[in-house]
Amino acid sequence: MDQFVVGTFFVSLLSFVLLHILRRDRVNNKRSMHKGYPLNGAKRSTDGECKSDTSSGTDVIIVGAGVAGSVLAHTLGKDGRRVHVLERDLTEPDRIVGELLQPGGYLKLIELGLEDCVEQIDAQRVQGYALFKDGKNTTLPYPLEKFHADVAGRSFHNGRFIQKIREKAAALPNVRMEQGTVTSLLVDNGTVKGVRYKTKDGQEHKAYAPLTIVCDGCFSNLRRSLCHPKVEVPSCFVGLILENCQLPFANHDGPLLEELQVAPQIPPELYDAFISAINRVNIRTMPYRSMPADPLPTLGALLLGDAFNMRHPLTGGGMTVALSDIVVLRDLLKPLRDLNNAASLCKYLESFYTQGKCFLLAGFL
Ligand SMILES: Cc1cc2nc3c(=O)[nH]c(=O)nc-3n(C[C@H](O)[C@H](O)[C@H](O)COP(=O)(O)OP(=O)(O)OC[C@H]3O[C@@H](n4cnc5c(N)ncnc54)[C@H](O)[C@@H]3O)c2cc1C
Ligand SMILES: *[C@@H]1O[C@H](CO)[C@@H](O)[C@H](O)[C@H]1NC(C)=O
Ligand SMILES: *[C@@H]1O[C@H](CO)[C@@H](O)[C@H](O)[C@H]1NC(C)=O
Repeated sequence: MDQFVVGTFFVSLLSFVLLHILRRDRVNNKRSMHKGYPLNGAKRSTDGECKSDTSSGTDVIIVGAGVAGSVLAHTLGKDGRRVHVLERDLTEPDRIVGELLQPGGYLKLIELGLEDCVEQIDAQRVQGYALFKDGKNTTLPYPLEKFHADVAGRSFHNGRFIQKIREKAAALPNVRMEQGTVTSLLVDNGTVKGVRYKTKDGQEHKAYAPLTIVCDGCFSNLRRSLCHPKVEVPSCFVGLILENCQLPFANHDGPLLEELQVAPQIPPELYDAFISAINRVNIRTMPYRSMPADPLPTLGALLLGDAFNMRHPLTGGGMTVALSDIVVLRDLLKPLRDLNNAASLCKYLESFYTQGKCFLLAGFL
């Protein structure tokens, strides 16, 4: 299996790499877990926490179960919320995105109790970057000396990682994961009340909840109703899988290439595998979309993950930002047991957007 070495080549007009400054957050795993609740609209029991008077029996609808949606479902589910996830396609995604989780993102996974999701998916530890240019090379190690030995980046097949998180979320009794495509938000007098969605059999359904969180990714259709829809496509990513080759620097991400003529830039160790892959497989491309965070505060709904904002893939930071935002949101919502109080929910969510923005600045300097 280890002969199967996966290399991703990044071709971009940009010639810089931004590294994260690892934010050393307290790892606070000692959160008390709320008991799960049955989904079928049954009344909340015991101490009256999480009171909900919607007839739907759902606290939160999550649109999309990529990294953001499935981690969020697990996180809110663990906090006792009744979560209904709608995902267009629950089979394993096969895309060339999100293959490197930065060490900062791994720390967030620990904080969310999901670090086991990088186990058994053939994930490789990543200790830093390897850079190649004009026949020269250098490595840029992550500054990890102060951390536990386990903390490093992780490189993996994005789809396997997502399936692991989806499984973990769906295993919670109060999380319902359903395959369906959301077609629109249900809006009543300026407040989002839920979603309209289609199942595979062509049936249309409606789902209601006091809070809808849209995590439908960078091709988001719902974004334009919750955000100023300024989307640009300044460049593209190109990726292919190399087989049977020795990486010039094991456990390093890269190489990063900045020229449009790729082959002459390839390190000699990878040249043959590169040429053979080009002749054998389809080269896969993925547009990079520039989507600045510019939310329209909307009652009853929130954007998260790539649907909220997207940074340049060269930073390798999209998943880390999504995970950090989920930690912020989890802590913000925790004191608010009754999501039906629209006015206070709105106040809490406004502060999510400001805190999220602060992270964008702090996390990428
Ligand atoms: C080329 C490229 C390389 C990248 N490399 C990295 C990297 O190395 N490291 C990193 O951290 N980040 C990387 N990123 C960014 C990272 O992939 C994203 O930040 C991350 O995947 C965002 O997760 P998400 O859950 O917001 O969106 P997605 O993972 O796109 O998930 C969205 C989900 O919503 C579902 N969906 C969409 N519309 C609907 C609908 N109407 N109804 C129901 N479901 C719907 C989709 O099926 C999908 O499952 C890269 C991005 C690109 C483009
Ligand atoms: C619509 O919302 C506004 C405030 O957002 C409120 O003042 C008004 O009473 C609402 N109207 C109805 C019909 O609910
Ligand atoms: C990196 O550069 C050094 C110095 O030029 C060279 O000796 C070495 O072989 C290179 N390593 C790789 C993996 O290309």
